[in-house]
Amino acid sequence: MLITKNIKMADVIHMNYFTLSVLNRFGIELGFGDKSVEDVCKKYKVDPDFFLEIANTFVNKDYFPKKHLQTFSVKLITDYLRKTHHYYHKIKVPEIELLIENMVESCYTQKDNMVLLRKFFNDYKNELLNHTQREEEVVFPYTIAIEDAFLNQNPDESVLQMMETYSIDVFENEHDNIEEKLFDLKNIIIKYLPAPKDQKLCNKLLHELFNLEQDLNDHSRIEEKVLVPKIREMEKFIINSFTKS
Ligand SMILES: [Fe+2]
Ligand SMILES: [Fe+2]
Repeated sequence: MLITKNIKMADVIHMNYFTLSVLNRFGIELGFGDKSVEDVCKKYKVDPDFFLEIANTFVNKDYFPKKHLQTFSVKLITDYLRKTHHYYHKIKVPEIELLIENMVESCYTQKDNMVLLRKFFNDYKNELLNHTQREEEVVFPYTIAIEDAFLNQNPDESVLQMMETYSIDVFENEHDNIEEKLFDLKNIIIKYLPAPKDQKLCNKLLHELFNLEQDLNDHSRIEEKVLVPKIREMEKFIINSFTKS
């Protein structure tokens, strides 16, 4: 069932509590009474159409209106992606880190296992940080410059120069699968480490890892299937209109 503008925001959460993290990214706080999705979005100055598409794709992996998502501005899309990065680094990673520390202390007696688990996640954390940093420092500013040039119909010489050395194809080719390592981490816990002493704690950690993996999948899908083709079209237009003599 798809979320629509007129249903109550409270019901959105009752329908699927995973939407809580989406609300968080849009800066929407709880306490909205019986207000509809549209009214709550208005209150928080959030584009209700964009919110709906993001929330629906987030909770339903078969729902992905690629073409409609591409109609939203690059600023709006990259702003959402940035907020999602922030959510990973400030909320999800520290939560998982704490669970791993608790696991290390209470579940395994062999030092090797503790070191392995801690080190694996620490490496992963650094990899995720490098991945998102590169996007925020290089890729997103580039996409915004391309959108500005496209909308102004008069690209700055600096943008044309930038396009000679960088393009969205470069990003697409170097964009690595950040979810893969999480799959390996889950497997280490599920298959290779000895049975943990605290099963509940272990399940909680696995639950968080599965969630983060799914969230990252959704995030990468927006980068690769929405942002990349949108920018590629704009690049083509700029090249055809402004770089041919
Ligand atoms: Fe990202
Ligand atoms: Fe990414």
